[in-house]
Amino acid sequence: MFKKSSMSRRRLLYMGVSGLAGAIAVAVAKDRLPIYPSQAVNNLTRDFKVAGLTPLKGRATAKGLIYGAASGQDFLASDKTLQASIVRECGILVPENELKWQFLRPRPDVFDFSKSDWLAQFARTHKMLFRGHTLVWYEQLPEWFKEVVNRQNAEKFFVEHITTVTKRYAGQMHSWDVVNEAIEPDDGQKAGLRKSPWLEFLGPDYIELAYRLAAQADPKAMLVYNENALEYSGRKEEVKRTAVLKLLERLKSRGTPIHALGIQSHLVAQEGALNAKKLRSFLSDVASLGLKILITELDVSDQKLPLDPAVRDRIVASVYEDYLSVVLDEKAVIAVLNWGLSDRHTWLSTFTPRSDGAPVRPLPLDSSFKPKLAWNAMARAFDQARKR
Ligand code: XIL
Repeated sequence: MFKKSSMSRRRLLYMGVSGLAGAIAVAVAKDRLPIYPSQAVNNLTRDFKVAGLTPLKGRATAKGLIYGAASGQDFLASDKTLQASIVRECGILVPENELKWQFLRPRPDVFDFSKSDWLAQFARTHKMLFRGHTLVWYEQLPEWFKEVVNRQNAEKFFVEHITTVTKRYAGQMHSWDVVNEAIEPDDGQKAGLRKSPWLEFLGPDYIELAYRLAAQADPKAMLVYNENALEYSGRKEEVKRTAVLKLLERLKSRGTPIHALGIQSHLVAQEGALNAKKLRSFLSDVASLGLKILITELDVSDQKLPLDPAVRDRIVASVYEDYLSVVLDEKAVIAVLNWGLSDRHTWLSTFTPRSDGAPVRPLPLDSSFKPKLAWNAMARAFDQARKR
């Protein structure tokens, strides 16, 4: 059930985005509609006013929340303005790629920590928390992985990797995404597990093993299970939420050292339908297992929105505000991170580019590091959140 919230229950019932034409049509008929796409309706009337100029990290901290972002090392090291923006806005930093196998392990017997160490040092210098992403994933494995790793030696590689990497940053990590994206019901495996080399070589208990190894090497870090496509109300997402919940229940019941769920939150304006009630009750279910929740990779794709940047920015900001007001209503949510901070560097430029070639605008700062309405939306959501 909903607790006190800044949004009316009716508005929270069902949220989705539609185009401006749809928005106007819906706005006209809204009194007759028990369910309507609120982002579009409110898009025309919301003012996104924010009190003061306090950066996002200060607004989050005031509510007992942590705010931060991911960044790649190469562009952070070479861009003083990005550095200043991250230092100003963020209380936590996560390497966007540098702790993945592909980057850490150029050869089977070599670990290269130079870039992740640089980011750890940057976080330390600027008194930011540091977060690890990710130890076990089916993607971004090195080229050599397929040739070298097999059923016979997979466990050796797995144990060595998790132990070496977590030990290196032991005591310095706020949290680790120990396992990333292990559920994919469409793959047709038992318990909705995703087909991956780890499942194939080690069997379903690879997940539990990963948490035990990480806890042993770094007993202080919060150990997170990170997952995508949990946010929206489609059948697929519903099935995935159920499978994730079952996985978390099983891990907890076996005494696995797992402390939190990471909800990636790659949102899509104009497409994603957010059922606030379903999402809210999923968050409660996770919290009732004694787990914290982190929003780990928030961004809002504007791929399908009209060209006009002002129109796009309003819709994107609405998606931010609507989503955050639902998730921050759950007190177990302790952190919000964007996947990038400025539109200058976002994976969506290549992953979901616009067909008209216009640069995408999914993040709180624009490509010259100026706050956009999405920044206001985040600031408002933090300001309105209950204290943790
Ligand atoms: C992305 C990075 O942002 C890109 O630079 C890289 O090319 C591919 O991976 N979910 C995750 C992240 O867990 O690791 C992904 O990061 C984005 C989706």
